[in-house]
Amino acid sequence: MADQEALDFWLKVRAGVTAGERVVFLAISAGQPVGTVQLIIDTPANGRHRCEIAKLMVKPAVRGQGIASALMTRAEAEAKSLGKSLILLDTQTGSDAERLYIRLGNERAGVIPRYALLSGGDLEATSLFFKLLGTPGS
Ligand SMILES: CC(C)(COP(=O)(O)OP(=O)(O)OC[C@H]1O[C@@H](n2cnc3c(N)ncnc32)[C@H](O)[C@@H]1OP(=O)(O)O)[C@@H](O)C(=O)NCCC(=O)NCCS
Repeated sequence: MADQEALDFWLKVRAGVTAGERVVFLAISAGQPVGTVQLIIDTPANGRHRCEIAKLMVKPAVRGQGIASALMTRAEAEAKSLGKSLILLDTQTGSDAERLYIRLGNERAGVIPRYALLSGGDLEATSLFFKLLGTPGS
């Protein structure tokens, strides 16, 4: 991703945070950001009970230390505290994140082929996951 594209992306994210549409979590190590995840809470009227986890990313140099797991646990706690009872998430089929999502107790709903356009031009499948939290309305 080009720098300008990344900047535009994060400016949109910031606007979403200001508007109360999403919550961004940042993992900090030695004063530096090393990982992030987002909880998207801007849902239609018939979906106020659900939310989406997106853009889970950890710096390559610090992967395998439990940072993504900690970010996911924190985002899930936030979802619960906001009264959400369903989390949706997706990731590239066969990726490290897919293994992580399964390990964290998310259920795979299915696979959509040709979902994501990679920078090299290939279309990659995505796996859709969900997690039920508590009981609806609780
Ligand atoms: C997927 C991704 C977020 C994982 O980040 P991470 O911080 O390395 O994740 P964790 O450390 O929590 O878990 C990864 C592995 O480390 C292991 N691990 C967990 N805690 C650990 C610890 N304290 N010490 C050592 N290893 C640990 C886990 O068992 C896990 O193994 P697995 O591959 O068998 O699941 C990271 O690889 C990434 O940023 N990938 C690119 C972006 C991406 O694919 N995002 C996904 C959603 S779009």
